[in-house]
Amino acid sequence: MARKSEAYLPVSTKPQPKFRVKALLGHCLYRRVVIWTFVIIGLLSYAFFSPGLTGRSRDVLDLVHGGNGVNEAPQVTDGIVLQTQDSQVESHIQEVVEEEVKPVEETQTQVQTQEEEKEEEKVKEEPEGEKQEETEDNANSPHWLKYKHLDGYYNGLRSLVSFSDYKPEYPEASSTGKGSEPAPTIHHSKPPKPSVYRPHPDYDSDEYQKTYVPVKRCYIDEDEKIPAPDLYAYNGVPQGQPKAALGSYDLLGLREDVCFDRFGRYGPYGLGYDLESGGTGEALDTEHEGSEVVWEKTGKINYEGVDWASAQERCYAANQDRFFTGNETRDFELAQAGRKRLDRIAIVIRTYVGFQWTSHALLNFRAMINELSLRSGGEYDVHFLLHVRDNNEPIWADPTTVQNILDINVPPEFHGLCTLWSEAQMKLYYPGNFGDTFENPSNGDIHGVYRSAHMPLQHFAMMHPEYAHFWNWEMDMRWTGSYYELFDRLGKWGAAQSREGMWERASKYYIPGLHGSWENFTELVRHETKQSGKRPILGPVVFNGKSGLEQGEVFLPSSCSSGSDMSQCGVGEDADLITLNPLFDADDSGWVFAGDVTGYDMQYEKPPRRCAIVTASRLSRRLLRVMHEETWRLHHSMFSEMFPPSMALHHGLKAVYAPHPVYLDRKWPQEEIEKAFNGGRDHTSGGHGSPFDLTNEHNHKGTSWYYNSEFAGLLWRRWLGYAQMDGRGNNGGRAGEGTKRGGRKEEENPKSSGRLCLRSMLVHPIKWENPAEQE
Ligand SMILES: *[C@@H]1O[C@H](CO)[C@@H](O)[C@H](O)[C@H]1NC(C)=O
Ligand SMILES: *[C@@H]1O[C@H](CO)[C@@H](O)[C@H](O)[C@H]1NC(C)=O
Repeated sequence: MARKSEAYLPVSTKPQPKFRVKALLGHCLYRRVVIWTFVIIGLLSYAFFSPGLTGRSRDVLDLVHGGNGVNEAPQVTDGIVLQTQDSQVESHIQEVVEEEVKPVEETQTQVQTQEEEKEEEKVKEEPEGEKQEETEDNANSPHWLKYKHLDGYYNGLRSLVSFSDYKPEYPEASSTGKGSEPAPTIHHSKPPKPSVYRPHPDYDSDEYQKTYVPVKRCYIDEDEKIPAPDLYAYNGVPQGQPKAALGSYDLLGLREDVCFDRFGRYGPYGLGYDLESGGTGEALDTEHEGSEVVWEKTGKINYEGVDWASAQERCYAANQDRFFTGNETRDFELAQAGRKRLDRIAIVIRTYVGFQWTSHALLNFRAMINELSLRSGGEYDVHFLLHVRDNNEPIWADPTTVQNILDINVPPEFHGLCTLWSEAQMKLYYPGNFGDTFENPSNGDIHGVYRSAHMPLQHFAMMHPEYAHFWNWEMDMRWTGSYYELFDRLGKWGAAQSREGMWERASKYYIPGLHGSWENFTELVRHETKQSGKRPILGPVVFNGKSGLEQGEVFLPSSCSSGSDMSQCGVGEDADLITLNPLFDADDSGWVFAGDVTGYDMQYEKPPRRCAIVTASRLSRRLLRVMHEETWRLHHSMFSEMFPPSMALHHGLKAVYAPHPVYLDRKWPQEEIEKAFNGGRDHTSGGHGSPFDLTNEHNHKGTSWYYNSEFAGLLWRRWLGYAQMDGRGNNGGRAGEGTKRGGRKEEENPKSSGRLCLRSMLVHPIKWENPAEQE
């Protein structure tokens, strides 16, 4: 993806002025005459016509440029290049032009997730790239470039300390104002030992067995010789590691007192041993002292010939008495008698024909299936929703066609988990006229995957009544900890939230270092809502041109009936929508697709809308049913990231943004985070000034979770044990800038702190992992 990284480079001012100076003073007489003639004409016309002095250098150079017959630089670039004096204007225009010159690419990146085209885009790192001094005060750059980089992420296992002794490099304790430690302190000469990490309920405990149906153990193989393995974690955190700037562990019930290295995380699934032993061969070329502990109990598991679909099915079959069925009559009976039953949840991973599977992708999805399905006794199932782009493929008529597509595009171990779909199928499934669209910036088809990625998910949900919730997931997301812990805790946290002030809280990033506790945050949001003069939203919203649902809007639970304590409204009710970024008001937000709204009466304003960027989210069956009806009966649609939240808003469903821990690669002052990330209307992330405005999205480049993040991939690959350019350049880019750090030699050096150990965190986008994939 050289194309893309070039486009992201701020339009440089350096080479261009050099050229101009040369041209002016060059040896070619003819050229000099022409140039100086134009310069003089230019100066004369300037003297006659210029209303002021500010345009001087610009006009002169424009003329020079236009007059010397050199065409290699387009006019629009000139405009930028020539603004070197006014750095602020320049950096602003840089941002705008960067976006404007490639609106189509942006469009695609926005939908990231939904994939396609993206597979060709790989961030090409140029290890031989010019080393640049870190000039943090470069005046031509976005303001956050002046904040110092944080180093504590790269402190490894030899600097591990117990959580009670842990002092984060960031944010600084405001009382002491003490600076960060310059180098990690080494506390261990050998890496400490990891231990088994189990975030699942203790299924063997009496307490569990009294309340729930006992859990039968699940195995990877049919002969039940290989039980689903555990992952390993280290007690403690490397000293100095920064804290998450956005979101919180504690709030969501995620553990922050343990960290994971690559072997504890992926070793049980085939990292660190070769293909002959049934592994992947990954990480053999990285530092690995003490990694054997991970295989002491289980041996190195041979993954050759594993069939995950049948492993999942066997696991569920052994445990089906634990769960509701999706048959309402039957489930009503089951809920009345006996032990507590659980809902089942599907993880639906979107993939597509042509996706380049790698060993690391295998490891990641093996981890998902093990942790979510097999280790939970069938509470979760993992599915792949495979987009077949060729609408002429007879994927419903002919099993051989399906098999051929799978053979070419998906590793055999996952074949049984794939559901194929195509846009032709969506046209057939959702026929009829969708009516007018307010704006269609992507110019895509209403049934196309960019604009309506929800359609195949809706269809999938209708075909699978056995699941109560559906996690929409993408191929380029990773979680350093246990997937069960992530999805389980987010679900429980969502259920515990009150509906009172729910939409208002969800519209804002939670910055614990600034906002304090969640109670403080709740109070702050209540205050800011009051100040804004808007009434908090509760239940379905009314707007001109709204059409009701067939069954009516009956989604408020009894805890919200009038006369009740509203702080308890919705507490205990499963969230219909859980997103991993704020649910912002799309109106006037500057988000490119804010106006992509179809099928509503055009004589009215656009309906009220909410949106969460990055489509990773959990949707309830009833939300999907509402979306399905809105699609087939009312022919409504909105751009993919906007449709589910807006449907939840219109019909009074429960929606939350789960503030999971998101890290920043630089030392942002807390107030500056608020300004950049909650800089929209009324201190939210929506409306005018939104961080999701095209011109503001650069703020996300140093975060660990956003579709345009540059930090996520660098950190992830360092954690995997590969040396990476550390991105300490002065252009804001991370790819190919700075110094090469990490990797085997550095981690093996006894003076270093060893291999990385990170707390659980989500990283996105991960476009490649092993540097060998780049060759
Ligand atoms: C649903 O469950 C009821 C009660 O157990 C049963 O009579 C009915 O046939 C089931 N419906 C379907 C579609 O399986
Ligand atoms: C949070 O609330 C507590 C209790 O009301 C208060 O003492 C504290 O100062 C608040 N913190 C912030 C950051 O507002």
